[in-house]
Amino acid sequence: MRHLLDIQSLSSEEIAEILKLAENLKEILYRAIPKVPTLRGKLVLLLFYEPSTRTRFSFERACKVLSADTLSFSAKGSSLEKGESLLDTVKNLCAVGVNLVVIRHPFSGTPHFLAKHIKIPVVNAGDGAHEHPTQALLDLLTVKEKLNTLSDLKIAIIGDIKHSRVARSDILAFQKMGSSVYITGPATLLPEPREIDFFKLNPNKFKVCFKPKEALEGADVVIALRVQRERHGEPFIPSLKEYAENFGLTPRELELVKPGALLLHPGPINWGIELSHELQNYPFQVILDQVENGVAVRMAVLLSLLTGE
Ligand code: CP
Repeated sequence: MRHLLDIQSLSSEEIAEILKLAENLKEILYRAIPKVPTLRGKLVLLLFYEPSTRTRFSFERACKVLSADTLSFSAKGSSLEKGESLLDTVKNLCAVGVNLVVIRHPFSGTPHFLAKHIKIPVVNAGDGAHEHPTQALLDLLTVKEKLNTLSDLKIAIIGDIKHSRVARSDILAFQKMGSSVYITGPATLLPEPREIDFFKLNPNKFKVCFKPKEALEGADVVIALRVQRERHGEPFIPSLKEYAENFGLTPRELELVKPGALLLHPGPINWGIELSHELQNYPFQVILDQVENGVAVRMAVLLSLLTGE
């Protein structure tokens, strides 16, 4: 693996290897001094052109645990304001000594573009509505830890699938590992029919459901998504209130899932919209486990790309 640009181009074996490495590395996080010298001398550029809390800080934490140094780029105050291009910016920072770039960008395909033009590894930390591969990897790790398997599960993904890079990466990742993915949400927030072939890796393992009940019934894992209004050029839903009434999850909807089914959300959460406030106490809600696993997964990705492990 030279870059981590998407889940689409990873094989199930490559995914399994990253997860295994993450599982091994996670132990370091519980040590009295959670720090190892493995990446001492390496410099990682964190290039975030969109807001982020979980991804940005877990990459930073992963770097610190592995003893890599970081440069945090902020567009405001940089020479981007004088018209410098993204590529020139990154080439200049490579000249400063950067060994790996982590990039989040509002335009789909930006990490792929960078990877073609620079000689160091690029990690996609979310590109527009395209993919968010490290989120899918941490979701896989969380499900594997809790359910002891990633195969033959029913995964229900509910919400704004159309604008969600997390949904795209998760849909591919869970199918690649042998599970079935059922997506549901308002018809206007589901993928266009022409996009379905991209998602359907196996016709028996992917289904678009117009009624949430069909996706949720007997699910082993439910992944709720935020309505990404910042990506809606025009209104796709009448109102958030109506969305919450029809597609928000409450304890009532979760009566349909398998006993012990996990509830995931990539964050940030709008409590009271995609998840009701009562679900803060749902016993199988693993949202902070996802965040913790984000550090281990990002440690594994950095280590693989910077040392070839
Ligand atoms: N899940 C996720 O990507 O969260 P942030 O936008 O806070 O990084």
